[in-house]
Amino acid sequence: MSNTIYCKQGHLVVPDNPIIPYIEGDGIGQDIWKQAQQVFDCAVEKAYQGRKKVDWLELLAGKKAYDQTGSWLPPETMTSIKQYLVAIKGPLETPVGGGIRSLNVALRQELDLYACQRPVRYFQGIESPLKHPEKTNMVVFRENTEDIYAGIEWEAQTAEVQTLIHFLQTEMKVNQIRFPASSSIGIKPISIEGSKRIIRAAIEYALANDLRRITLVHKGNIQKFTEGGFRKWGYELAQQEYGPYLQSGKLQINDIIADNFFQQALLHPEKFDVIVLTNLNGDYASDALAAQVGGIGISPGANINYETGHAIFEATHGTAPDIAGKNQANPCSLLLSGAMLFSYIGWQEVADRIQKAIETAIANQEMTADLAQACSTRALSTSQFVARLLDYL
Ligand code: NAI
Repeated sequence: MSNTIYCKQGHLVVPDNPIIPYIEGDGIGQDIWKQAQQVFDCAVEKAYQGRKKVDWLELLAGKKAYDQTGSWLPPETMTSIKQYLVAIKGPLETPVGGGIRSLNVALRQELDLYACQRPVRYFQGIESPLKHPEKTNMVVFRENTEDIYAGIEWEAQTAEVQTLIHFLQTEMKVNQIRFPASSSIGIKPISIEGSKRIIRAAIEYALANDLRRITLVHKGNIQKFTEGGFRKWGYELAQQEYGPYLQSGKLQINDIIADNFFQQALLHPEKFDVIVLTNLNGDYASDALAAQVGGIGISPGANINYETGHAIFEATHGTAPDIAGKNQANPCSLLLSGAMLFSYIGWQEVADRIQKAIETAIANQEMTADLAQACSTRALSTSQFVARLLDYL
């Protein structure tokens, strides 16, 4: 098992030739994975001159898996990710209807990948709706397992929802349901453990990366015990576990109500380093922040469990069926997710090289069609863009 990454007392042990599983993904996944792999291998080679090398292992999921095995998420795929700890994936087609849950959600739940990490930064040369997009440089930590994503809800006018509403009215003395006969009801669980582990992950990340400010983003003014609890437990955790860092000023913890956060993120984005949010707020915020730096198509992401070490790095866009197979897709989201993966396993030199190559290409107005149009520049195909990156590496 000498080629397997493993986790020892919360720290990753990474061999020089680790096996890293990948899921190519559907649609444009097939266009971008092969291209991205060339960039990854070249960056590793340049950084370590043959002393280290990744042994990529293909796993099946999504449409490709269904066509080959009859299963959208074969059990061997899950077993291998559990075994090899760290994986990277392209976008997956989730069949609509038929009771098949989202493959991405299934992977996150099965591995309890509670931290969704999304760095948001500007690449000089990309068209953005902001006057100073370069001031936006923050890392989003979105809680991935609780909140309304737990999927606990009942449809209006069913026997189940009537039972629940009756219970709420009679046993819990709830009288605020405005239209009880026609309301659907959803439940939002937010726990002390769930909140503290994501906030701890954000603080650890900030300390490891010399970032000072942690901002808890919440709607505690309206939802006192769920969103308000998240805020309260965040401050509690910071005092209990990081007191000396707070006193020395190495760490600052503050909070902001979610709607004000969206305003401030547009007006004064430089005020934020690391932000931590509950699941739904985090969903909105990560896409809105990516859009304000013009990079919604190139923003990377990771889903991580810091205790077990399990992590899946992924392109955040979908399978883009409209351009699949046309050699037009932008590989940057997958490439930057790969950079996050290398950083996570401690191969920072590789991560830096990938980022730098992308920075150089975009600054030179070398970009794929999705970005080129807004910049009034000629679009490169996926393979032409990757050839430029290989030159810059
Ligand atoms: P989408 O992200 O695939 O496409 C939206 C638009 O963005 C399209 O015009 C597409 O051409 C463009 N686009 C997306 N990625 C691009 C890239 N890398 N380069 C250039 N242009 C790009 O979203 P849509 O259409 O809502 O979903 C299509 C499929 O993808 C669905 O089956 C959905 O379930 C799946 N999906 C999978 C995700 C994942 O696996 N993480 C995330 C989102 C959607």
